[in-house]
Amino acid sequence: MKGVVLAGGTGTRLYPVTLIVNKHFLPIYNKPMIYYPLSLIMLLKLRDVLLIVNPDDKKDFERLFGDGTKLGISIKYQIQEKPNGLAEGLVLAEEFIGDDNVCYMLGDNVFFGHNLVKILEEAKKDVEENGGAYVFGYSVKEPERFGVVEFDESGNVISIEEKPKNPKSNYAVVGMYFYDNEAVEIAKRVEPSDRGELEITSVNEEYLRRGRLKVKLLGRGFAWFDAGTHESFLEAGEFVATIEKKTGLMIGCIEEIAYRNGWIDREQLLELAKPLAKTDYGKYLIELAEGED
Ligand code: TTP
Repeated sequence: MKGVVLAGGTGTRLYPVTLIVNKHFLPIYNKPMIYYPLSLIMLLKLRDVLLIVNPDDKKDFERLFGDGTKLGISIKYQIQEKPNGLAEGLVLAEEFIGDDNVCYMLGDNVFFGHNLVKILEEAKKDVEENGGAYVFGYSVKEPERFGVVEFDESGNVISIEEKPKNPKSNYAVVGMYFYDNEAVEIAKRVEPSDRGELEITSVNEEYLRRGRLKVKLLGRGFAWFDAGTHESFLEAGEFVATIEKKTGLMIGCIEEIAYRNGWIDREQLLELAKPLAKTDYGKYLIELAEGED
């Protein structure tokens, strides 16, 4: 399975902050937003990653991650000329995905929860073994802002709608999707919606029509933030700060994950920590490197 993170878009809901800086570089507490979705891909042990980026931002992403070697992974970059919608990323990733399956993540989504990795591993395994699409629903207060999934009494999905005026449930589809190889061809056939975007919901709807869509609900034990508005951006940062201070463990720390996965050694971890040494982030990495003999 390949990992793709969508990190383009315009970020109009974060204006004026994002007039000149891409939102994925903004800090959710102590690290850039993009670390959070990337960390989940790494926790799934996927080492082949594509970042979909705006033309102006490619250089900065490269300055941040290079080709991924320093994290023991491969990171490639694909330019999206215009923010034509989430489904376009699948089309742009066609060559990268090849004949593989894909874990498709939105660059501004932050997740935290007990057993999250286990749940993602199940989704990955399911798509690898059975094909189809596997997505997640999460109960939210304002479902009309999202793709909304409707269930019947037995829990079967009966509809999925993008930003409905009258949502049929409170369950939003979160920005983390597992697809088999069909997703690319399906995405190619998606027509622009009324707002002119190629919607990922249209891809999910097609899987539903084919009887190939699984939706798993993430319950109360999970936190999900679409950090794309001023309010949710702040909320996500406060949440991460609280958890990290309470537990002494980091959320979304890509260097730690690379090290624990055995993709980089102690020396390499210390090398990554060096420029960060004045921060608690750097100290955390140094402690990690020195701690386990
Ligand atoms: P959105 O938050 O839906 O869009 P946006 O980032 O352009 O922000 P706004 O609505 O405030 O203008 O995008 C979800 C994620 O997908 C986000 O991480 C950016 C990314 N994205 C792309 O990479 N390409 C696109 O064409 C779009 C629309 C979004």
